[in-house]
Amino acid sequence: MITYAPKHVTVSSGGADGPAKGLLRFLTCGSVDDGKSTLIGRLLYDTKLILEDQLLALERDSRKHGTTGDDIDFALLVDGLEAEREQGITIDVAYRFFSTPRRSFIVADTPGHEQYTRNMATGASNSDAAVILIDARKGVLTQTRRHSYICSLLGIRHILVAVNKIDLVDFSGERFHHIVGDYLGFAQSLDFASITTIPVSARFGDNITQHSDRMCWYDGPSLLEHLETLDVERALEEKPFRFPVQWVNRPNLDFRGFSGTVASGVIKEGDRVVVAGSGKESTVARIVTADGDLSDARAGDAVTLTLADEVDVARGDVIARADSRPEVVDQFAAHVLWMAEEAMLPGRSYLMRIGTKYIPARITSLKHKVDVNTLEHIAAKTLGLNEIGLCNVATAAPVAFDPYTENRETGAFILIDRFTNATAGAGMITFGLRRATNIHRQSLLVDKASRVELNGHRPAILWFTGLSGSGKSTIANIVERELHVHGAHTYMLDGDNVRHGLNRDLGFTDADRVENIRRVGEVAKLFVDAGTVVLCSFISPFRAERRMVRELVGAEEFFEIYVDTPIEECMRRDPKGLYARAKEGKIKNFTGIDSPYEVPENPEIVVNTSGATAEEVARRIIEALRERRIIG
Ligand code: ADX
Repeated sequence: MITYAPKHVTVSSGGADGPAKGLLRFLTCGSVDDGKSTLIGRLLYDTKLILEDQLLALERDSRKHGTTGDDIDFALLVDGLEAEREQGITIDVAYRFFSTPRRSFIVADTPGHEQYTRNMATGASNSDAAVILIDARKGVLTQTRRHSYICSLLGIRHILVAVNKIDLVDFSGERFHHIVGDYLGFAQSLDFASITTIPVSARFGDNITQHSDRMCWYDGPSLLEHLETLDVERALEEKPFRFPVQWVNRPNLDFRGFSGTVASGVIKEGDRVVVAGSGKESTVARIVTADGDLSDARAGDAVTLTLADEVDVARGDVIARADSRPEVVDQFAAHVLWMAEEAMLPGRSYLMRIGTKYIPARITSLKHKVDVNTLEHIAAKTLGLNEIGLCNVATAAPVAFDPYTENRETGAFILIDRFTNATAGAGMITFGLRRATNIHRQSLLVDKASRVELNGHRPAILWFTGLSGSGKSTIANIVERELHVHGAHTYMLDGDNVRHGLNRDLGFTDADRVENIRRVGEVAKLFVDAGTVVLCSFISPFRAERRMVRELVGAEEFFEIYVDTPIEECMRRDPKGLYARAKEGKIKNFTGIDSPYEVPENPEIVVNTSGATAEEVARRIIEALRERRIIG
C-alpha cells in the first residue's frame, strides 16, 4: 500500500567471498515500555553497525540521561531519532538498515499505541515478517492482539514473538511457556505461515545475537539467527505477471512503449500479454531499459515494454500475462483503514490510487467496523481516524486487481481526500463484487442531443446552496417562474420536498447529508439528460458533495449559486422556527448551530439577500443565465 521507503532495494551479491545475501524487511511491534527501542538499539549495536561517533555520543548520553547506570541505554539510540518524527502529522515510519554477512535487513519501526495504527499499518505493508515484543512480566496484552491483527491484515506471514525482559522474571521457562501458550491460543485464527517464540533480554543481549547461557531450557535460535535464516518466499516473482503502466513513452512515431515497474511476476520477450481493462491481447516485442534490451524482466524491475500490435494502452492500465489475468470490476469488498482526522463518509467521492491508476471512488457501504483490540465486528456508520472496517467500494470505471492476500502489490489502494490531497484511507481488497458488471447500459434511440434540440434551450443544474432560512427556495421559485415564462422546460428539487419522498429515510447526520446530495445529484443529472433546467435548493453544506454533483454533468451545465445570507439574519427570519428549537437543543445537528456549513470557494454566482429583495436577486440570476446563453 503506501510506500515511503524505497520500494525495490537492489541487494548486491556477496562477491567472491560470500554467498548472495537475501533481504529481509521486518517490522517491530511494541512500545518503548516493552523494550522495543532497546531491542532495535541492541541489534544495531551488536551487529557492529553503529558508527563510531554515534557510539561515543551514546555512551555519553547513557551516563547523563540513561536509566541503566554505566551500561549503554540502547533505547536512547533509537528514541533520539524518534522525537522529531513524532511531532509531524505525516504518516511516517522510521526505516533502519543493517546487515550481517548472511543477510541485509530493513527494519520498519513505528510507535505501538493505538493512535499510531496508521503508521504501523504503513510499516507492515512493506514487511515480510514482524517481531512482536511481549514484556515477560506482563504477558499478552491488548496491544499484542492489536499488533498481531494489523500484521495479519496487512499480509505479514511470519511472526517472531520476542518475550523480552526475561531477566526480570528470573529467566523462568515456566513463565515463557505460559505466555507462548496464551499467544498461540489467539493467534491461530490469524492465519500466519509461521510463529516463532524466543525468550530474550534486549538490555543484556540474551538470545539477541548470541545464545544465552542463562536459559538452558531454551535451545532454539537467537533472534538474529532466526531473522537471518527465516525463509520468506520471494513471493513477488512467483506471482502472476502484473505491470501497472506509469506512462506511455512515445518519443517519435516509430516507437511506442509502456513504462513502469513490474509489480509482480516475470515476463519474457515473446510472451502473450493482455491489457487487463480492455481484454486486448498482444505479444511482448521488446523489453527496453536505459542499459539496453533485456530478454526478461521481473518484479521490481523498471522497464519499458513494447508490444507487437497497436493496442490501446493508457497510464494506469495493467498489462498482465494473457493466461493469468487479474479481476476487472467496478465494485469490490475491502478492509479499509481510515487515516484522516475527518471521518470516512459512505457515499462521498474520494480519489482512489490503485497501482498507477487514479480514479474517483466511493465507499458505498460499511459492513462492519473491527474493534482492533478484540477483533469483534461492530455495526457502524462511519470510520474515524485509525479505525478499520470492511467496506463495499465502487469505482467510477472498472479497475484491475488481485485479492490482497494473493498479491499485496495489486490488491491494495489508497483513498485520497480530493480537497487536501492527503491520504484519507488505505484499503486491502478482499474480493470483487460482480453484480454491477452484469448490468449493461441500455442504448436508447432518442438521446440527449435530440431532446435538447426539441426543447430549444440548453439544460442545466442551478444549484442553490446556503443556510436554512437563507432564502434559497424563495429565490429559486421566482427564477423558475421567470424561466417558465421564457419558455424553458424546468423542474424544482427542494430539500424539504425531496425529504418527504425519495429521501424520506434520511436524517441530518453528516453521512445522511452526503447520501441526500448524492441521490439528488443523480436525479438532477437525469433531468439534465432530459434536456431540462433543474433547480436544486439544498443546504448542501459540504464542498465535496457539491463538487461531486458538478462533476456528474458537463462544466457548462452546472451553476452553483451561493445564497450568502449571514446566520444572524437567518436566525432573525427563522421562517420555520427551527433555529429557536435548535438553540434550545431540541433539534440536533442543525446547520450553523452544531453542524458545519462549508462556504463555496468558487461559485458561479454569489447573491446577498440582505440589501435586495428576492425578486431583484432572481432577476440578477436570470441575467447571468442569459450571459451564459442558457436562455435566449
Ligand atoms: S442538506 O444539509 O442535506 O442539504 P436539506 O436542504 O436537504 O439539507 O434539508 C434542509 C431542510 O431540512 C432545512 O431547510 C430545514 O427545513 C430542515 N431541517 C430539519 N432539521 C434540520 C437540521 N438538523 N439541519 C438543517 N436543516 C434541518
